[in-house]
Amino acid sequence: MEKKKIVITIDGPSGAGKTTASRMLARRLGYKYMDTGALYRGIALASKEKNSHPDDEGAMKSMLAGLTLNLVLKDNSLRLLLNERDVSDLIRTPEISMMASAVSALPLVREYLLEVQRTMGRDKGVVFEGRDMGTVVFPEAEVKFYLDASPENRAMRRYRELDSRGKISLEQVKTEMVKRDFDDSHRKLAPLKQAEGAVRIDSSNLNLEEVLDIMLYHIEAALC
Ligand code: DC
Repeated sequence: MEKKKIVITIDGPSGAGKTTASRMLARRLGYKYMDTGALYRGIALASKEKNSHPDDEGAMKSMLAGLTLNLVLKDNSLRLLLNERDVSDLIRTPEISMMASAVSALPLVREYLLEVQRTMGRDKGVVFEGRDMGTVVFPEAEVKFYLDASPENRAMRRYRELDSRGKISLEQVKTEMVKRDFDDSHRKLAPLKQAEGAVRIDSSNLNLEEVLDIMLYHIEAALC
């Protein structure tokens, strides 16, 4: 008998290892994987390219009206398509990280993406990674995780990801990351916090396999 499909949410601050854990978890379960941070990054890039300032509600509204965002798996890597154009590499810069955090505080943007994300989860069998997946977007998700790690550990992880670009120091990465986490956890709308019923995992001293083992244990238990 085929196992029932569920929605799994993984929230947490930047650099806690959500992306790798979500991708691997989805692969093990035969699920889809959605990196919702990429959607906010896509909107940040679109507003930069269209010169729509986040404070200008009218400009943001018309920019969103002409926007399509899709997450597709290509050669084992999740790609973001902005109006059918692959912008996956353009959204991974420190500038877009800060802009994504800024646009994510706008009610207009959150409402727009709420619909997009819920549509993506309609058929279940998806691992959603983000900041408000378990609290706001899928409060009824069958299994929820909150993945955390120490600021030093998270900064190091982010630094390694950016290292090849070599334009920013570890200290700068940590400063920007701490500011972004503060903003993400203190905004009025859908702030980053642990969802009710979420399993908290501190990945500071765990390797990927250990994180996955804990997650799979809770998923198995929920499916029984
Ligand atoms: O996961 P990330 O670093 O790529 O996310 C970029 C920004 O998007 C993050 O600073 C906050 C925002 N975000 C959000 O508000 N809600 C989500 N579900 C995902 C990301």
